[in-house]
Amino acid sequence: MKRILFVCLGNICRSPAAEGVMRAKARRRGLKLYIESAGTGAWHAGDPPDARMMRAAKRRGYDLSYQRARKVTDADFFEFDFLLAMDLANHTDLLELAPPNRECDIRLFLDFADCETRETPDPYYGGDQGFERVLDLIEEGAEAFLNYLEDESE
Ligand code: 4NP
Repeated sequence: MKRILFVCLGNICRSPAAEGVMRAKARRRGLKLYIESAGTGAWHAGDPPDARMMRAAKRRGYDLSYQRARKVTDADFFEFDFLLAMDLANHTDLLELAPPNRECDIRLFLDFADCETRETPDPYYGGDQGFERVLDLIEEGAEAFLNYLEDESE
């Protein structure tokens, strides 16, 4: 079973949404995956996802309420097959944090998809449409990543 960790900055908006969306889409395809999320920062450790993100996700049928934020740990670089960064800064930060003997693939999440952007923009300081945009990109990215995993396993 592949193990996937989504990583953003605070672990209260983008990566929890990606965790929830990917989990639902994998289940619909009958794919068994282990999925978590984490942040490169610890400001929100222990908090549930941002209420605006939870509401927007709930409207599309994804329940994020069970999630609690945590910071990326050294062990993550060995326990997961993929660390999927939501934006380029998260990707750069992960490469800097990574122990030299890491065993995971550190990738930009949307690089698996054909979206018009490589980055899932941080919605924290913006309006409601930012959260919808994040979910649109994540839904597209999740389908693309699952297609990639399915192609790999053939
Ligand atoms: P996230 O969004 O990285 O998608 O969880 C953010 C949440 C909180 C902060 C920044 C980004 N913050 O600075 O507190």
